[in-house]
Amino acid sequence: MHVLITGGAGFIGSNLVRYHLNQGHKVHVVDDLSTGRKENIQPFLHDPNFHFDKGDVLTWSGLERAVSGADVIYHLAAVVGVFKVLKQPIEVLAINIAGCERLLRAARNSHWRPRVIVASSSEVYGNRPIVDGRHLPLHEELELLITPGINTRWNYSISKLANEAFAISYAKEHDMHVTAVRFFNVCGPGQTGRYGMVVPRFVSQAVNNEPITVFGDGSQTRSFMDVRDTVKALFALASTEDSAGEIVNVGSDSEITILDLAELVRKLADSESPIHHLDYEDVYGEGFDEIAYRRPALQKLQRLTGFKSRYALVDTINHLIALSKAEKEVDGDVSLVRSRA
Ligand SMILES: NC(=O)c1ccc[n+]([C@@H]2O[C@H](COP(=O)([O-])OP(=O)(O)OC[C@H]3O[C@@H](n4cnc5c(N)ncnc54)[C@H](O)[C@@H]3O)[C@@H](O)[C@H]2O)c1
Repeated sequence: MHVLITGGAGFIGSNLVRYHLNQGHKVHVVDDLSTGRKENIQPFLHDPNFHFDKGDVLTWSGLERAVSGADVIYHLAAVVGVFKVLKQPIEVLAINIAGCERLLRAARNSHWRPRVIVASSSEVYGNRPIVDGRHLPLHEELELLITPGINTRWNYSISKLANEAFAISYAKEHDMHVTAVRFFNVCGPGQTGRYGMVVPRFVSQAVNNEPITVFGDGSQTRSFMDVRDTVKALFALASTEDSAGEIVNVGSDSEITILDLAELVRKLADSESPIHHLDYEDVYGEGFDEIAYRRPALQKLQRLTGFKSRYALVDTINHLIALSKAEKEVDGDVSLVRSRA
């Protein structure tokens, strides 16, 4: 099987690479390394089944050829992370929307019709009101909420909604196997905290005994899925006939407040870090709209694939803490050698 992953040097992408290479598949990655990292794909560079091209999905001349050889395509390349989205609101729209359309057009023109998974996001659900203190699970048929007024914070959701619309339109108009997946906070090895992702940030702060910085009062909730589960769910979706033309939540339905997450990470890391609260405005600037809660309904994913997550959040955090401590030891040894030299 030939797999093409756009954005494959990123967090989810590089975990998908590992998963498919382990299955004996051939994997081709195109990535412009804007948020992705060469270190993420370094372990695969000598694998004869792995091929990497540095390129921008908007302009890369090899795209049509790469698409024509693929059985399964994961389109993950996108401008991501709240900090980047706030800083580059035009790029978010331009790259995320045009990149997806170019990829789908290439897939339509390919004689060998690949199955295509397009990355969307739980951000398309917007900021749902809490009803009678209850956090209603977000299911795919819900009406979507767009906050009135032009706030560029929502450009990412708009771009992902446009990706879904393209996915469904290509599936219908050209009878293609395209599936849009709404990811809910994926975490695990290979994720960086640089662009605002909370789990790697908390783990690094706790392991280094630095203050753990919670934005706002920490009552906002998220549901975290281990990326090792995510990649299996994605391939399960790509492998079933019934996912064609569908929009599917991919996540975990176990919800946690961000303050509880900070306390959990501190406890598991056996850390002395204090927990500091930062105002949203100081972090993101004026008028930032935080999402109050996020919990996916997973019936559709289960119905289509029978998929069930294997890793609990505690397992993921323990794994990340172990990796972070091991990295710290290596860094410590390197600086010791340097200081002796
Ligand atoms: N991680 C999550 O929790 C989450 C949640 C919702 C949606 N998503 C979506 O999943 C996908 C993967 O996210 P991730 O968390 O792995 O982020 P990531 O930043 O690690 O991966 C995105 C990759 O795309 C690459 N890229 C960006 N623009 C590109 C371009 N023009 N051409 C080629 N490559 C380009 C980046 O270099 C990076 O490697 C994204 O589409 C993101 O919107 C992720």
